[in-house]
Order: sequence, then C-alpha cells, then structure tokens
Amino acid sequence: MKKFLALILTLAMALSVTACGGSDDTADDTADGEGSGTEETADYASMTDDELKAAITTVEGGKLTVATSPDFAPYEFYAIDENGDPQLAGFDMDLAQYIADYLGLSLEIVPMDFDGTIMELQNGNVDLGMAGYSPDPKRADSMDFSDIYITGGQSFVCVESNKDLFTSLEDANNADYQIGAQVGSIQADLAHENTPDADIIELAKVPDIIAELVTGKLDGAFIETMVAESYATQYPELCLVLEVPYDAEGSVVGVTKGNAALLEGVNRAIAAAKEDGSFDQYVLTANELASGDIIEGLVDENGEAVQ
Ligand code: ARG
Repeated sequence: MKKFLALILTLAMALSVTACGGSDDTADDTADGEGSGTEETADYASMTDDELKAAITTVEGGKLTVATSPDFAPYEFYAIDENGDPQLAGFDMDLAQYIADYLGLSLEIVPMDFDGTIMELQNGNVDLGMAGYSPDPKRADSMDFSDIYITGGQSFVCVESNKDLFTSLEDANNADYQIGAQVGSIQADLAHENTPDADIIELAKVPDIIAELVTGKLDGAFIETMVAESYATQYPELCLVLEVPYDAEGSVVGVTKGNAALLEGVNRAIAAAKEDGSFDQYVLTANELASGDIIEGLVDENGEAVQ
C-alpha cells in the first residue's frame, strides 16, 4: 500500500511539472467509518421516514439552521443573479435545501467564516454545518459526521511563474517561503505537516489566500483541489502544482453532536439525493455558476463583498 501511494505520488509529481490546472474526479462514495453504534441510533435506523421526521428535533422547531462559509466554490459561494444581487449557490447549498425538504423543515442558512461554522456547531447554535467539511478525526468532538457525499483531493497551489520552484512538497518546506492555508481547516494542518519549516500564514477566507498568492505575498498555499480549480477559472495564473496526500478524503455534513435522529435523517436525505440524480445535477449547476459572476467570502446587507 505504501509502495502504491509512493508510486501515485511520484506520478503526480512527474505530471505536475508539465500539467498546470491539474485534474480532478468527483467520484461518488458513501462509505464512512463513523457511526456511534449506540442503541438509540439503531432505533432511528429502523424507523420509517415519517416516524423519523416526527422524532427529529432542531434548534428552532420546524426549521433547519445551517452554518456555511461561502468562500468555497463550487461547494458554496455567491452567484450574482440577473438583478446584480448575490445569491447563495453551490452544491452544498442545494443539498442543504434537499435535506430540509426531505425532512419537512424550512431552511435557514447562516453564512460566516469557516472556523466560525465549526464553533457554532460545537456550541449547538446551529443544526448542521455544511462547508465542505473533511471528516477530520480531530473534529469528531465538535460534531457528528454524515456519510461522505463527494470525494476530492488536496492541492498545493502557486502562481504559474513560480511553478518550477515546486517539484515536490520538500521544495516548499523552506524558511524562505510564505505558505497560506485557511484558519481551522485541514489544509492548515497539511501546511504544518508538509512544510513545517516554511512561514505558514493562516487566513480566515480562501479569497484572501488567493489574493495574496496573486500579488506575490504568498509563495504557495494548500487548497482543496476542486476549489483551487474553480478559483483558477477566475484567476488563470493560478497553478495546481502538486497533489497533496491526505487520508480523510471526502466531504461530510457536520451534524450537531448527539442528535442521532437528525444524523439519520441527513444520511437518508444524502442517499436519496444521490440515488435520484439530484446531487449530480447540483454539482453540474454549481460548476456552471462558479465559472460566472460570483463573490467568494461574505456579503454585507447591501449585497457588497465584505473585505
Ligand atoms: N475540507 C477542508 C476542511 O474541512 C476545508 C473546508 C473549507 N470550507 C469552506 N467553506 N471554506 O477543513
């Protein structure tokens, strides 16, 4: 297995020298190692959908409150509509609506910085966090994980003109380099693991990392591959130079800890959205919208991007 991984890495590195823009697949996967195995969970699992719906409790009755961090196209971002107004978009947002509909709840999405979504979930202020969460074992105390709904990878990103500097992650592990990652994300951990000697700069929002890369303040950054590819459609000078190995691949919905009925409901909704083709459609729509006029980050009450 190690050998196989090493081979993949070598291949990835070899490819990275010539390929700019990278490759990605969004293969499906519903496997998830989690599952508390308590008796309660087992009971919910044997309920009909209607029984389950009746058993589900949320922060506010009848409503599903979901925290997100809309700086992460195609997962979540703002698409500018025909009136010039920003509307929350992305496959996480469509999936959130699907889950709410499936459970017979109204939906309220609360946008905030990424690290805030984890805190809000941990404090029980929201029912779900949907922000492209990786099922990071370090997070298991703050939330329960749904089944994985999409898989993807991790990338090391720089600007085109610097791509020859980084033929391997070792090249990036150098005190001369400033390397960016999002606060509270697994990419920040990946930066500390792979480039501990570099000057690691953690920023609250992904667009700030991109802006600093493009203006040369950062030399490189760790970013989710699908998201880096999406930013590269807006900033063509961005280059996905290296694939970064990570073992908790895939994205999950974060469910407020201990709400086993809601967790079961979310997993049923995810399975249904994948089964009936809705989720595939959401991914297509998200990618289409993400290549248009968008805002990534937060917007104020006038619909302007918050700097
Ligand atoms: N998958 C990474 C993590 O879970 C990054 C997620 C960042 N999400 C976002 N909406 N900015 O840490």
